[in-house]
Amino acid sequence: MLAYFNGAYLPLQEISISPEDRGFLFADGVYDVIRVYNGHPYRLDDHLARLSYCASQLRLAPSDFSFLADVVRRLLAENGLSGAASIYLHITRGRAPRQHAFPQPPPPLTIYASARSLDETPLRRKQERGIVAITLADNRWGRCDIKTTALVANVLANQQAADHGADEAIFIRDGALLEGSHTNIMAVADGEVRTAPLDNSILPGITRQAVMELCRELAIPVRETPVFQHEIAKLSELMALSTTLEVTPVTSLDGKPVADGRPGAVCRRLGDALRQDIERLCR
Ligand SMILES: Cc1ncc(COP(=O)(O)O)c(C=O)c1O
Repeated sequence: MLAYFNGAYLPLQEISISPEDRGFLFADGVYDVIRVYNGHPYRLDDHLARLSYCASQLRLAPSDFSFLADVVRRLLAENGLSGAASIYLHITRGRAPRQHAFPQPPPPLTIYASARSLDETPLRRKQERGIVAITLADNRWGRCDIKTTALVANVLANQQAADHGADEAIFIRDGALLEGSHTNIMAVADGEVRTAPLDNSILPGITRQAVMELCRELAIPVRETPVFQHEIAKLSELMALSTTLEVTPVTSLDGKPVADGRPGAVCRRLGDALRQDIERLCR
């Protein structure tokens, strides 16, 4: 596989990163993941806009990464990826002797992008059967709207899920279900889709945004208001959303079935609508 590294396209094994890179030392960087269908990246502009926003929040300069659209397309072409694939983008503040404050003068950013083909079978199986989740207290920092590479709290949460035989961990703060370790969360209660509002406590997911638009098109009531822990028993559906999971039902939470423990009708409808949107945009 050829990957992009600081302006060059190189075999992965020829890329080396300095131990003084601030991504390595401080997780001082941002990233994004983009799904590719039929060789076409889905909502690429939205992902690059979010990456640029996140970079600006970390005061990276430059912080406009719209030029990566060409890099993404070239990576797909160079690697002959014409089917299902995923793209990983990673930008750090670059290399400098270790000190917390920004290095002066600023070193060039480290910019890395890779592409790999994807087997969709495990995802389709999860969507058919549903996934298992646990809840846990949100112990992350106060800027979860930034997609930084500092993911250790998410890693530990997801490992806790894995230790319990679960796929996902849902963070709870002040009694509200906010988002998963690598997904946004939507629930259906009283015929209405609900999802935590956009603020510093969740990532503005591209899939969340797409699915909210689809709810409106389909006249499915949708409201940006969190689901609370004490409401879990009355939920008729729960779902996890992300670039890699699309819309996937959560059928078990903390060892108990969600509603009847089977994937629900709204989740299926939204999953189908998302697939249609993907087909339309990635033909
Ligand atoms: C914490 C978190 N929330 C939500 C998401 C979903 O975002 P998107 O739909 O843009 O993939 C992710 C994706 O990685 C994530 O890490």
